[in-house]
Amino acid sequence: MADSDIKSDVAGGPVRHVPVMLNEVLSCLQLTAENKTPLKIVDGTFGAGGYSTAMVEAGAQVMAIDRDPNAIRDGADLVEKLEGKLSLVSGEFRHLDQLAADHDFGQADGVVLDIGVSSMQLDEAERGFSFQKDGPLDMRMSQSGVSAADVVNTMQQSDLTRVIGILGEERRASHVSRAIVREREKIPFSTTLQLANLVEKTLGRRATDRIHPATRTFQALRIFVNQELEQLGEALFAAERLLKAGGRLVVVTFHSLEDRLVKLFFKDRSGKQEGSRHLPLVNHKDATFVIHGKGLLKASRDEAEINPRSRSAKLRWAERNDNPADKMDMSIFGLPNLVPLDSLQLKGE
Ligand SMILES: C[S@@+](CC[C@H](N)C(=O)[O-])C[C@H]1O[C@@H](n2cnc3c(N)ncnc32)[C@H](O)[C@@H]1O
Repeated sequence: MADSDIKSDVAGGPVRHVPVMLNEVLSCLQLTAENKTPLKIVDGTFGAGGYSTAMVEAGAQVMAIDRDPNAIRDGADLVEKLEGKLSLVSGEFRHLDQLAADHDFGQADGVVLDIGVSSMQLDEAERGFSFQKDGPLDMRMSQSGVSAADVVNTMQQSDLTRVIGILGEERRASHVSRAIVREREKIPFSTTLQLANLVEKTLGRRATDRIHPATRTFQALRIFVNQELEQLGEALFAAERLLKAGGRLVVVTFHSLEDRLVKLFFKDRSGKQEGSRHLPLVNHKDATFVIHGKGLLKASRDEAEINPRSRSAKLRWAERNDNPADKMDMSIFGLPNLVPLDSLQLKGE
Protein backbone atom coordinates (compact mmCIF):
# COMPACT_ATOMS: atom_id res chain seq x y z
CA MET A 1 0.00 0.00 0.00
CA ALA A 2 1.44 3.37 -0.96
CA ASP A 3 1.87 5.98 1.74
CA SER A 4 -0.46 8.33 -0.10
CA ASP A 5 -3.19 5.65 -0.06
CA ILE A 6 -3.51 5.63 3.69
CA LYS A 7 -3.69 9.33 4.31
CA SER A 8 -7.03 10.11 2.76
CA ASP A 9 -10.24 8.21 2.26
CA VAL A 10 -12.54 8.07 -0.79
CA ALA A 11 -14.12 11.36 0.20
CA GLY A 12 -10.67 12.97 0.43
CA GLY A 13 -10.98 13.42 4.22
CA PRO A 14 -8.55 12.07 6.80
CA VAL A 15 -8.67 8.31 7.29
CA ARG A 16 -10.07 7.45 10.70
CA HIS A 17 -8.96 3.82 10.70
CA VAL A 18 -6.19 2.52 8.45
CA PRO A 19 -7.38 -0.83 7.03
CA VAL A 20 -4.88 -3.62 7.67
CA MET A 21 -3.77 -6.07 4.92
CA LEU A 22 -6.29 -4.59 2.52
CA ASN A 23 -4.58 -5.78 -0.68
CA GLU A 24 -4.31 -9.31 0.69
CA VAL A 25 -8.00 -9.28 1.71
CA LEU A 26 -9.06 -8.20 -1.79
CA SER A 27 -6.90 -10.80 -3.42
CA CYS A 28 -8.12 -13.67 -1.17
CA LEU A 29 -11.69 -12.64 -2.00
CA GLN A 30 -10.76 -12.76 -5.68
CA LEU A 31 -11.91 -9.18 -6.16
CA THR A 32 -10.35 -8.23 -9.45
CA ALA A 33 -11.39 -6.05 -12.34
CA GLU A 34 -12.06 -9.24 -14.36
CA ASN A 35 -15.19 -10.23 -12.40
CA LYS A 36 -18.05 -10.13 -14.86
CA THR A 37 -20.88 -10.13 -12.34
CA PRO A 38 -20.40 -8.28 -9.04
CA LEU A 39 -19.33 -10.60 -6.22
CA LYS A 40 -21.54 -10.45 -3.14
CA ILE A 41 -19.45 -9.89 -0.04
CA VAL A 42 -20.42 -9.61 3.62
CA ASP A 43 -18.11 -7.35 5.61
CA GLY A 44 -18.84 -8.39 9.21
CA THR A 45 -16.76 -5.58 10.72
CA PHE A 46 -17.55 -2.32 8.93
CA GLY A 47 -15.60 0.04 11.27
CA ALA A 48 -14.71 3.08 9.18
CA GLY A 49 -15.63 1.23 5.99
CA GLY A 50 -12.06 0.87 4.69
CA TYR A 51 -12.55 -2.70 3.47
CA SER A 52 -16.14 -2.09 2.31
CA THR A 53 -15.13 0.93 0.22
CA ALA A 54 -12.25 -0.87 -1.44
CA MET A 55 -14.43 -3.92 -2.15
CA VAL A 56 -17.14 -1.79 -3.78
CA GLU A 57 -14.45 0.01 -5.80
CA ALA A 58 -13.23 -3.42 -6.94
CA GLY A 59 -16.73 -4.17 -8.24
CA ALA A 60 -18.41 -5.96 -5.30
CA GLN A 61 -21.90 -5.65 -3.89
CA VAL A 62 -21.34 -5.35 -0.14
CA MET A 63 -23.49 -5.88 2.92
CA ALA A 64 -21.61 -4.54 5.92
CA ILE A 65 -22.38 -5.14 9.59
CA ASP A 66 -21.27 -3.39 12.77
CA ARG A 67 -22.50 -3.61 16.35
CA ASP A 68 -21.30 -0.10 17.19
CA PRO A 69 -24.05 2.54 16.72
CA ASN A 70 -21.35 5.19 16.03
CA ALA A 71 -19.96 3.14 13.13
CA ILE A 72 -23.46 2.83 11.66
CA ARG A 73 -24.17 6.55 12.12
CA ASP A 74 -20.82 7.61 10.62
CA GLY A 75 -21.16 5.16 7.72
CA ALA A 76 -24.40 6.72 6.44
CA ASP A 77 -22.57 9.17 4.12
CA LEU A 78 -20.56 6.35 2.59
CA VAL A 79 -23.71 4.31 1.95
CA GLU A 80 -25.15 7.29 0.07
CA LYS A 81 -21.94 7.94 -1.83
CA LEU A 82 -21.63 4.32 -2.99
CA GLU A 83 -25.08 4.46 -4.58
CA GLY A 84 -26.70 1.11 -3.82
CA LYS A 85 -23.46 -0.91 -3.83
CA LEU A 86 -23.17 -0.87 -0.04
CA SER A 87 -25.80 -1.61 2.59
CA LEU A 88 -24.98 -1.12 6.25
CA VAL A 89 -26.67 -3.15 8.94
CA SER A 90 -26.59 -2.75 12.70
CA GLY A 91 -26.04 -6.09 14.38
CA GLU A 92 -23.62 -8.73 15.65
CA PHE A 93 -21.54 -10.68 13.17
CA ARG A 94 -22.36 -13.98 14.86
CA HIS A 95 -25.78 -13.55 13.19
CA LEU A 96 -24.38 -12.67 9.78
CA ASP A 97 -26.30 -15.35 7.89
CA GLN A 98 -29.56 -14.36 9.54
CA LEU A 99 -28.85 -10.65 8.87
CA ALA A 100 -28.15 -11.47 5.21
CA ALA A 101 -31.46 -13.36 4.99
CA ASP A 102 -33.33 -10.50 6.68
CA HIS A 103 -31.93 -8.11 4.07
CA ASP A 104 -32.51 -10.41 1.06
CA PHE A 105 -28.79 -10.48 0.34
CA GLY A 106 -28.77 -14.15 -0.72
CA GLN A 107 -25.76 -16.50 -0.52
CA ALA A 108 -22.36 -14.78 -0.40
CA ASP A 109 -19.24 -15.12 -2.55
CA GLY A 110 -17.16 -13.87 0.35
CA VAL A 111 -17.22 -13.06 4.05
CA VAL A 112 -14.55 -10.94 5.68
CA LEU A 113 -13.96 -10.29 9.38
CA ASP A 114 -11.39 -7.81 10.72
CA ILE A 115 -11.40 -8.61 14.41
CA GLY A 116 -10.81 -6.14 17.23
CA VAL A 117 -11.42 -2.50 17.99
CA SER A 118 -11.28 0.33 15.50
CA SER A 119 -9.01 3.35 15.87
CA MET A 120 -12.13 5.47 16.45
CA GLN A 121 -13.15 3.30 19.39
CA LEU A 122 -9.63 3.43 20.85
CA ASP A 123 -9.15 7.14 20.27
CA GLU A 124 -12.39 8.37 21.79
CA ALA A 125 -11.79 8.63 25.55
CA GLU A 126 -15.50 8.40 26.34
CA ARG A 127 -15.67 4.85 24.91
CA GLY A 128 -13.39 3.71 27.73
CA PHE A 129 -11.16 1.32 25.74
CA SER A 130 -7.87 3.10 26.36
CA PHE A 131 -5.80 3.17 29.53
CA GLN A 132 -3.95 6.18 28.17
CA LYS A 133 -6.96 8.47 28.11
CA ASP A 134 -9.26 9.21 31.00
CA GLY A 135 -12.87 8.32 30.32
CA PRO A 136 -15.70 6.21 31.71
CA LEU A 137 -14.69 2.57 32.22
CA ASP A 138 -17.04 1.33 29.52
CA MET A 139 -15.56 -0.74 26.60
CA ARG A 140 -18.93 -1.81 25.18
CA MET A 141 -18.80 -1.80 21.37
CA SER A 142 -22.58 -1.95 21.20
CA GLN A 143 -22.96 0.76 23.88
CA SER A 144 -25.43 -1.42 25.76
CA GLY A 145 -25.36 -4.16 28.39
CA VAL A 146 -22.70 -4.89 31.00
CA SER A 147 -19.79 -2.40 31.01
CA ALA A 148 -16.19 -2.91 32.14
CA ALA A 149 -17.03 -0.90 35.28
CA ASP A 150 -19.90 -3.32 36.04
CA VAL A 151 -17.44 -6.22 35.72
CA VAL A 152 -14.75 -4.85 38.04
CA ASN A 153 -17.30 -3.55 40.55
CA THR A 154 -19.40 -6.71 40.87
CA MET A 155 -17.49 -9.83 39.80
CA GLN A 156 -16.24 -12.20 42.49
CA GLN A 157 -12.48 -12.06 43.01
CA SER A 158 -11.89 -15.65 41.87
CA ASP A 159 -13.85 -15.04 38.64
CA LEU A 160 -11.94 -11.80 38.02
CA THR A 161 -8.67 -13.68 38.40
CA ARG A 162 -9.76 -16.15 35.72
CA VAL A 163 -10.95 -13.46 33.32
CA ILE A 164 -7.76 -11.40 33.66
CA GLY A 165 -5.50 -14.48 33.67
CA ILE A 166 -7.09 -16.27 30.74
CA LEU A 167 -8.33 -13.49 28.44
CA GLY A 168 -5.51 -11.09 29.31
CA GLU A 169 -2.83 -13.77 29.62
CA GLU A 170 -1.74 -11.85 32.74
CA ARG A 171 0.54 -14.02 34.89
CA ARG A 172 -0.09 -11.93 38.00
CA ALA A 173 -3.88 -11.88 37.59
CA SER A 174 -4.54 -12.73 41.24
CA HIS A 175 -2.54 -9.69 42.38
CA VAL A 176 -4.60 -7.47 40.11
CA SER A 177 -7.97 -8.92 41.13
CA ARG A 178 -7.10 -8.71 44.85
CA ALA A 179 -6.17 -5.04 44.44
CA ILE A 180 -9.38 -4.36 42.48
CA VAL A 181 -11.57 -5.91 45.16
CA ARG A 182 -9.81 -3.95 47.94
CA GLU A 183 -10.09 -0.70 46.03
CA ARG A 184 -13.76 -1.05 45.06
CA GLU A 185 -14.72 -1.48 48.72
CA LYS A 186 -13.44 2.06 49.28
CA ILE A 187 -14.55 3.59 46.01
CA PRO A 188 -16.23 1.82 43.07
CA PHE A 189 -14.49 2.05 39.70
CA SER A 190 -15.86 4.55 37.25
CA THR A 191 -12.93 5.67 35.06
CA THR A 192 -10.21 4.13 32.91
CA LEU A 193 -7.36 5.93 34.67
CA GLN A 194 -8.60 4.82 38.09
CA LEU A 195 -8.15 1.22 36.98
CA ALA A 196 -4.97 1.80 34.92
CA ASN A 197 -3.27 3.58 37.85
CA LEU A 198 -4.26 0.84 40.30
CA VAL A 199 -2.87 -1.89 38.03
CA GLU A 200 0.34 0.08 37.54
CA LYS A 201 0.69 0.59 41.30
CA THR A 202 0.02 -3.11 41.93
CA LEU A 203 2.30 -4.62 39.28
CA GLY A 204 4.93 -1.88 39.15
CA ARG A 205 6.64 -0.76 36.01
CA ARG A 206 10.22 -1.43 35.00
CA ALA A 207 12.10 0.75 32.57
CA THR A 208 12.51 -2.30 30.32
CA ASP A 209 8.75 -3.05 30.11
CA ARG A 210 7.62 -2.73 26.50
CA ILE A 211 3.94 -2.42 27.34
CA HIS A 212 1.99 -0.56 30.03
CA PRO A 213 1.24 -2.86 33.01
CA ALA A 214 -2.51 -2.35 32.49
CA THR A 215 -2.46 -3.56 28.85
CA ARG A 216 -3.36 -7.17 29.66
CA THR A 217 -6.06 -6.30 32.18
CA PHE A 218 -7.71 -3.93 29.70
CA GLN A 219 -7.49 -6.53 26.94
CA ALA A 220 -9.16 -9.12 29.18
CA LEU A 221 -12.00 -6.80 30.14
CA ARG A 222 -12.59 -5.76 26.53
CA ILE A 223 -12.74 -9.35 25.30
CA PHE A 224 -15.02 -10.36 28.17
CA VAL A 225 -17.41 -7.38 27.97
CA ASN A 226 -17.86 -7.84 24.22
CA GLN A 227 -17.82 -11.67 24.39
CA GLU A 228 -15.36 -11.48 21.53
CA LEU A 229 -14.30 -15.13 21.43
CA GLU A 230 -17.87 -16.45 21.47
CA GLN A 231 -18.85 -13.90 18.79
CA LEU A 232 -15.95 -14.93 16.56
CA GLY A 233 -16.57 -18.66 17.01
CA GLU A 234 -20.26 -18.35 16.16
CA ALA A 235 -19.53 -16.06 13.19
CA LEU A 236 -17.29 -18.69 11.58
CA PHE A 237 -20.17 -21.19 11.60
CA ALA A 238 -22.55 -18.50 10.31
CA ALA A 239 -20.15 -17.81 7.43
CA GLU A 240 -20.01 -21.51 6.62
CA ARG A 241 -23.82 -21.49 6.29
CA LEU A 242 -23.87 -18.31 4.17
CA LEU A 243 -21.09 -18.94 1.66
CA LYS A 244 -21.69 -20.38 -1.80
CA ALA A 245 -19.48 -23.19 -3.11
CA GLY A 246 -16.26 -21.47 -4.19
CA GLY A 247 -16.88 -18.54 -1.80
CA ARG A 248 -14.05 -17.35 0.42
CA LEU A 249 -13.91 -16.76 4.17
CA VAL A 250 -11.17 -14.29 5.17
CA VAL A 251 -10.40 -13.46 8.79
CA VAL A 252 -7.82 -10.96 10.07
CA THR A 253 -6.92 -11.23 13.76
CA PHE A 254 -4.52 -9.39 16.03
CA HIS A 255 -3.79 -11.74 18.88
CA SER A 256 -3.21 -15.39 19.50
CA LEU A 257 -6.49 -16.12 21.33
CA GLU A 258 -8.49 -15.09 18.26
CA ASP A 259 -6.12 -16.59 15.71
CA ARG A 260 -6.28 -19.91 17.53
CA LEU A 261 -10.07 -20.04 17.04
CA VAL A 262 -9.82 -19.40 13.31
CA LYS A 263 -7.07 -21.99 12.96
CA LEU A 264 -9.08 -24.61 14.88
CA PHE A 265 -12.19 -23.88 12.83
CA PHE A 266 -10.43 -24.32 9.49
CA LYS A 267 -8.67 -27.42 10.74
CA ASP A 268 -11.98 -28.93 11.82
CA ARG A 269 -13.84 -27.93 8.65
CA SER A 270 -11.13 -28.88 6.16
CA GLY A 271 -11.04 -32.48 7.37
CA LYS A 272 -7.56 -32.15 8.80
CA GLN A 273 -8.71 -33.44 12.19
CA GLU A 274 -7.95 -37.07 11.49
CA GLY A 275 -6.43 -38.19 14.78
CA SER A 276 -3.71 -40.80 14.98
CA ARG A 277 -2.80 -42.73 11.84
CA HIS A 278 -2.61 -45.89 14.00
CA LEU A 279 -6.26 -45.65 15.01
CA PRO A 280 -9.43 -46.06 12.93
CA LEU A 281 -11.04 -42.77 11.87
CA VAL A 282 -13.74 -41.70 14.29
CA ASN A 283 -16.37 -38.99 13.77
CA HIS A 284 -15.38 -38.68 10.15
CA LYS A 285 -17.24 -35.83 8.52
CA ASP A 286 -17.17 -34.21 5.13
CA ALA A 287 -14.95 -31.17 4.79
CA THR A 288 -16.76 -27.90 4.09
CA PHE A 289 -13.68 -25.77 3.39
CA VAL A 290 -10.54 -26.22 1.31
CA ILE A 291 -7.33 -24.59 2.51
CA HIS A 292 -4.99 -23.50 -0.28
CA GLY A 293 -1.33 -23.62 0.71
CA LYS A 294 -1.05 -22.62 4.33
CA GLY A 295 -4.07 -20.35 4.15
CA LEU A 296 -2.10 -17.92 6.29
CA LEU A 297 -0.71 -14.49 5.38
CA LYS A 298 1.05 -11.76 7.33
CA ALA A 299 1.43 -8.06 6.58
CA SER A 300 4.20 -7.13 4.19
CA ARG A 301 7.34 -5.45 5.49
CA ASP A 302 6.31 -2.21 3.80
CA GLU A 303 2.92 -2.18 5.48
CA ALA A 304 4.42 -3.08 8.87
CA GLU A 305 6.72 -0.09 8.57
CA ILE A 306 3.93 2.33 7.73
CA ASN A 307 1.27 0.91 10.06
CA PRO A 308 2.60 -0.63 13.31
CA ARG A 309 -0.86 -2.12 14.05
CA SER A 310 -0.40 -4.48 11.10
CA ARG A 311 2.67 -6.13 12.64
CA SER A 312 0.61 -8.47 14.80
CA ALA A 313 -2.00 -9.17 12.10
CA LYS A 314 -2.63 -12.69 10.82
CA LEU A 315 -4.90 -13.34 7.87
CA ARG A 316 -6.38 -16.82 7.50
CA TRP A 317 -8.57 -17.77 4.59
CA ALA A 318 -10.18 -20.79 3.01
CA GLU A 319 -12.57 -21.65 0.21
CA ARG A 320 -16.02 -23.11 0.78
CA ASN A 321 -16.79 -26.33 -1.11
CA ASP A 322 -20.24 -27.67 -2.01
CA ASN A 323 -20.79 -29.95 1.00
CA PRO A 324 -23.68 -28.86 3.22
CA ALA A 325 -22.77 -26.80 6.28
CA ASP A 326 -22.11 -28.95 9.31
CA LYS A 327 -23.76 -28.30 12.68
CA MET A 328 -22.37 -25.55 14.89
CA ASP A 329 -20.09 -27.11 17.51
CA MET A 330 -18.50 -24.51 19.78
CA SER A 331 -16.71 -27.29 21.71
CA ILE A 332 -14.06 -27.45 18.96
CA PHE A 333 -12.64 -24.19 20.35
CA GLY A 334 -12.26 -25.33 23.97
CA LEU A 335 -13.32 -21.87 25.15
CA PRO A 336 -12.64 -21.13 28.82
CA ASN A 337 -15.54 -21.66 31.17
CA LEU A 338 -15.98 -18.15 32.58
CA VAL A 339 -18.83 -16.65 34.55
CA PRO A 340 -21.71 -15.74 32.16
CA LEU A 341 -21.70 -12.04 31.31
CA ASP A 342 -25.44 -11.64 31.82
CA SER A 343 -25.19 -12.96 35.38
CA LEU A 344 -23.42 -9.74 36.39
CA GLN A 345 -25.20 -6.83 37.93
CA LEU A 346 -25.60 -3.73 35.79
CA LYS A 347 -24.92 -0.25 37.17
CA GLY A 348 -27.77 0.98 39.34
CA GLU A 349 -29.62 -2.36 39.39
C1 LIG B 1 -10.96 -3.35 13.38
S1 LIG B 1 -12.49 -2.58 13.10
C2 LIG B 1 -12.82 -2.86 11.42
C3 LIG B 1 -12.20 -1.86 10.51
C4 LIG B 1 -12.61 -2.00 9.06
N1 LIG B 1 -12.13 -3.22 8.45
C5 LIG B 1 -12.16 -0.80 8.23
O1 LIG B 1 -11.44 -1.03 7.25
O2 LIG B 1 -12.50 0.32 8.56
C6 LIG B 1 -13.59 -3.69 13.85
C7 LIG B 1 -15.05 -3.25 13.82
O3 LIG B 1 -15.83 -4.41 14.06
C8 LIG B 1 -16.88 -4.10 14.94
N2 LIG B 1 -17.22 -5.34 15.65
C9 LIG B 1 -16.45 -6.00 16.55
N3 LIG B 1 -17.08 -7.09 17.00
C10 LIG B 1 -18.27 -7.13 16.33
C11 LIG B 1 -19.36 -8.04 16.35
N4 LIG B 1 -19.36 -9.11 17.15
N5 LIG B 1 -20.41 -7.80 15.54
C12 LIG B 1 -20.41 -6.72 14.72
N6 LIG B 1 -19.41 -5.80 14.68
C13 LIG B 1 -18.35 -6.01 15.48
C14 LIG B 1 -16.33 -3.03 15.84
O4 LIG B 1 -17.39 -2.27 16.39
C15 LIG B 1 -15.44 -2.24 14.89
O5 LIG B 1 -16.14 -1.16 14.34
